[in-house]
Amino acid sequence: MEIYFPPSVRNFVPKRFVFSAWVDHMCFGYDIVHAVRPKLLVELGTHNAFSYFTFCQSMLDHDVDGLCYAVDTWEGDQHIGDYDESVFDGVNSHNREHYHGFSYLLKERFEQAVHHFADESIDLVHVDGTHTEEAVTNDFNEWFPKVKPGGVMLFHDIASRREGFGVWRFWENLGSEYQTFAFAHGFGLGVLRKNGHPTTPNESQLLRLLFESSEEEQQQLREFYVHANRFHELRRKLGSAKFGIAHKQRAKLRERSAEQEAK
Ligand SMILES: C[S@@+](CC[C@H](N)C(=O)[O-])C[C@H]1O[C@@H](n2cnc3c(N)ncnc32)[C@H](O)[C@@H]1O
Repeated sequence: MEIYFPPSVRNFVPKRFVFSAWVDHMCFGYDIVHAVRPKLLVELGTHNAFSYFTFCQSMLDHDVDGLCYAVDTWEGDQHIGDYDESVFDGVNSHNREHYHGFSYLLKERFEQAVHHFADESIDLVHVDGTHTEEAVTNDFNEWFPKVKPGGVMLFHDIASRREGFGVWRFWENLGSEYQTFAFAHGFGLGVLRKNGHPTTPNESQLLRLLFESSEEEQQQLREFYVHANRFHELRRKLGSAKFGIAHKQRAKLRERSAEQEAK
């Protein structure tokens, strides 16, 4: 297998860390933006923006000259439940602080937002809205025509069999007419490339591995991303442990100097 050493394990430190079921795809999310270099990226289903800000950070870190749109009602749905305005406020203020000028939040339903985009205009779409088979099938049918030939769609939760979740069934029924790749970890992430992609010698290494490599190499890629995310998780835990130790040491020093001053 060719050596694959992507940016997520070289120089990625997430700017914002929030709880999300998407956490195990953080490295891949960062790398797929580096690979596709989208002029237009759209996310359907953003909530706390874990996935979305991973994409935005990669756009910025790799000087990708493109626009990003996050679409969500920011009201919740039948699977994650309802949540309050503070979620949108947090996302909005982080977005303004770090990604203003290229990243926009569209607070509306997917069915409405789809009309803002021209056919065959989007390079990368991430679908992570309501996870019933019916909802994800509608999202696919409405947004697929908006994707450029050769563009990429991501689908979260293709491996989740929790009650009411049907993305796995949608994914199984997709048929063989598309180029696809499936990660099984982290509730599953499906990657689909729309036909019509001109094969160029400059194709990114990640896209080649996803869609043009042997079964053995694809399996190695899956294992690689399981480990890449574990590496980040351990580094984060180590970082917070170090921070905890440094914090305690500083507190002790402050105590000691206060004692000395008192003498
Ligand atoms: C699973 S969450 C998204 C998680 C997020 N991608 C992350 O990284 O953690 C799904 C979101 O989709 C939104 N949603 C579901 N269906 C929607 C629709 N038809 N239009 C707009 N938003 C929708 C919900 O409000 C919810 O915030």
